[in-house]
Amino acid sequence: MFKMGKVIVIVGGQFGDEAKGKFVDFLAEKADLIARYNGGNNAGHTVIVKDDVFKFHLIPSGIIHKDKVNIIGNGTVIDPKVLVSEIESLEEKGYKISDKHLVIGQNAHIIQAKHIEEDSATGGKIGTTSRGIGPCYKDKIARTGIRVIDYVKEDNRYSRKIRPLVKNTSFIINQFIENKKNILLEGAQGTLLDIDHGTYPFVTSSNPTAGGACTGLGIGPTKIDSVTAIMKSYITRVGNGPLVTELGTEEQTKREDGINDLKETLGKEGLDHLKRKITLKANEGDEYNQGRLMRFNGKEYGTTTGRPRRTGWFDVLIARYSARINGLSAVVMTKLDVLDDFKKIKICVGYEYKGKKTTEFTNNSEVLSKCKPIYEEVDGWLEDISKVKDFKELPKNARKYVERIEELIKVPISIVSVGPERSQTMILRKEFLF
Ligand code: IMP
Ligand code: MG
Repeated sequence: MFKMGKVIVIVGGQFGDEAKGKFVDFLAEKADLIARYNGGNNAGHTVIVKDDVFKFHLIPSGIIHKDKVNIIGNGTVIDPKVLVSEIESLEEKGYKISDKHLVIGQNAHIIQAKHIEEDSATGGKIGTTSRGIGPCYKDKIARTGIRVIDYVKEDNRYSRKIRPLVKNTSFIINQFIENKKNILLEGAQGTLLDIDHGTYPFVTSSNPTAGGACTGLGIGPTKIDSVTAIMKSYITRVGNGPLVTELGTEEQTKREDGINDLKETLGKEGLDHLKRKITLKANEGDEYNQGRLMRFNGKEYGTTTGRPRRTGWFDVLIARYSARINGLSAVVMTKLDVLDDFKKIKICVGYEYKGKKTTEFTNNSEVLSKCKPIYEEVDGWLEDISKVKDFKELPKNARKYVERIEELIKVPISIVSVGPERSQTMILRKEFLF
């Protein structure tokens, strides 16, 4: 039978960490090629398949499906040590990595030791991940960087390992498009961290938005069939910069212990007790504890550092902005189960700035930092929904919450997710999948 191929772009619709890894993995099952187009090892994907937990920073999570081609495109920046360590950890789990599974764009830029040093010394103001991302892109734009194609001419343990994987990835992807294959293009980070369209200067140094897929991989915009953004049912941000719906202050969050410390000092019973205390205060209307409850339920602690993420209510203005910048076809809503314990849930439908109401987002960080959220409040469902398999079986208030957001953002919600496992995924609309 003749099979029509599709080219689907997946982007982070908020500030990153929307659980994109799970959906890339979910969609990758039917994809022939998976490609990453921006960023470097500032990203972190966790994919859980049965009992195996995979953590990737660089390699697309499609790599765990053994019969797919995974590409790290020209728009990315690569730390050779990190790439090689990811390849080796896959090999230890029994994966054979050759250029049939993993291909590196020859024009991607190499993160050098000096980039990491510079980022560590100067990135504090932005709250960067200190992985050398910004300084590497800086050298790329100044035309003083080292590309992968140059790097593999050197002779060291890393270059030798990477060398066989380096190819003209734009050529390969376009061949796959011509042959009507299914192609998944994955943006790292999120829309609001985009260097051109995010909350500058509190952004990353690449284009996580849909346009970045074209420039970062060398394909034309006419080849893209749909763009899906992943958004959480609430919002989080790591690093600095404005977050209008933030619950509690940035300082309060940063003062908190990381989850690993909490686990160690409190144990399971202590954690349960703490959660009951937080829930009680949250439902009495204490904002800091509302944010803390999201952090707790959503495991909102950095994958590598364990640092607590800032949390807040779902922001419709951001979602609509994201829809515009990316030309969104659909939204996948993740982590709906995180809101299970809330009596009341808020949705941000406007900002108040200098006494005036606005419903348009602005990426002007200075203005944003002075905006106050205007909320619509809905009733929670106060039930564990993590085992629900069908949207129709969700508690009425959970369904109403999703439908209200869909109505407000004016983009169809194609999937709702209630947990990290593949089985915790409800498909509402098939037309945006392969
Ligand atoms: P950089 O990308 O390390 O330069 O960091 C710039 C900003 O982007 C900081 O606020 C980081 O916390 C944020 N950031 C970078 N990568 C990610 C990510 O994968 N998820 C969420 N935030 C990120
Ligand atoms: Mg992440």
